[in-house]
Amino acid sequence: MDNKLVAKHIIPGEVWLDTDGTLIQAHGGGVLFHEGLYYWYGENKNGISRNARVDVIGVSCYSSSDLHTWKNEGIVLPAVTNDLEHDLNPRMVLERPKVIYNDTTRKFVMWMHIDSADYSYARAGVAISDSPVGPFEYIGSFRPNEQMSRDMTLFKDTDGKAYHIFSSEGNSTLCITLLSDDYLSPTTQYTRNFINNYREAPALFKHEGKYYIITSGCTGWSPNEAEYAVAENIMGPWKVIGNPCFGTDAETTFHSQGTYVLPIKGKSGAYIFMADRWKREDLKDSRYIWLPLQIKNNTIEIKWLNQWDLSYFNY
Ligand code: GAL
Repeated sequence: MDNKLVAKHIIPGEVWLDTDGTLIQAHGGGVLFHEGLYYWYGENKNGISRNARVDVIGVSCYSSSDLHTWKNEGIVLPAVTNDLEHDLNPRMVLERPKVIYNDTTRKFVMWMHIDSADYSYARAGVAISDSPVGPFEYIGSFRPNEQMSRDMTLFKDTDGKAYHIFSSEGNSTLCITLLSDDYLSPTTQYTRNFINNYREAPALFKHEGKYYIITSGCTGWSPNEAEYAVAENIMGPWKVIGNPCFGTDAETTFHSQGTYVLPIKGKSGAYIFMADRWKREDLKDSRYIWLPLQIKNNTIEIKWLNQWDLSYFNY
C-alpha cells in the first residue's frame, strides 16, 4: 500500500481514494459496523453520465478500521446485464443501498431504491448475503404495503427490530415501516410522516433513547436546506426542529445532501453526518461530505470543517 494515497484525515469534498489509489464509488451510501470493521456501501457510479444519470453498475463495498483508510471489497451486488427485464439491469436506477445485520438469521440484509430511468417504478429492492463483503443475492423488489418507495434508509434499533424509512406518495410523505423479524419484508405496521412536506434522503439515528431524523428537501441533484426532527417513538409523532447545519452554506447543507448518520463505535454521542455533493454532469465525481455531528441539549449541530479526524471527538 502506498501511504501517500491514504488520507490521514477526513477532508470533506476532496477526491477520496481507496487503498489502491482509485476513486471511491459509494454514493448515497451507508455504513455497517461489524466485528471491528466499518463497511461502507454505496452506489457505484463509475460510468458515463448522460441526462443526469449513470447506468446501474452495482453496489460497492469498502472496509475500514479507522474511517479514512478504505479497502475496496468490490461490487457486492452487481448489475445484471443479460436480462433487460431485471431490476438490476443497467437501464434501471439503483440508489441509496443500506445494509443491516440480522443477529438471528446471521444474514446481511441490503435494501435499496430500485427504479426505472423515469423514476415511475418507485420500489424497494432487497438482497441478502452470508458475508458483509458479499456476494449479495438479489431477492426482488416491491412497493411496501402498496406504497411508492424512493429515497430510503434502514434503521436497526437496540431491541433488534428494524425499520424501512422511505419517501413515498410522490415523495410528499415519509413512511416508516417495521420490518419482518428476518428483515426481508415489510410488516403491515407503518406510519405516514411529514405529510405533504416533500422530504427526501432520510438519515435516522438514536441518541440517549430519542430518535432523530435528518432529511433533505426535494430538488433532485441540487442541494437544499436540511431539516431534522425528533421523536420518542420511531413510528412518530415527529417534532420538526429545524436546520441541523450552522455557519456559511448551512442553507445548502454545505452544497450536499445527507445520506446517513454514522455512530462512532466506542464514543458515545459521536456521530458522522454523511452527505453527497452531487455532480449531475459527472456523477462518478460526486464528492463525499462527512462532518462531525454533535447533540447538545437535544439539539443537533453540524458545522463545516476543512479537514478533521476522529480525535475531534476526544472530549
Ligand atoms: C434526489 C435523490 C437522489 C436521486 C436524485 C435524482 O432527490 O435524493 O437519490 O434520486 O434525486 O434526481
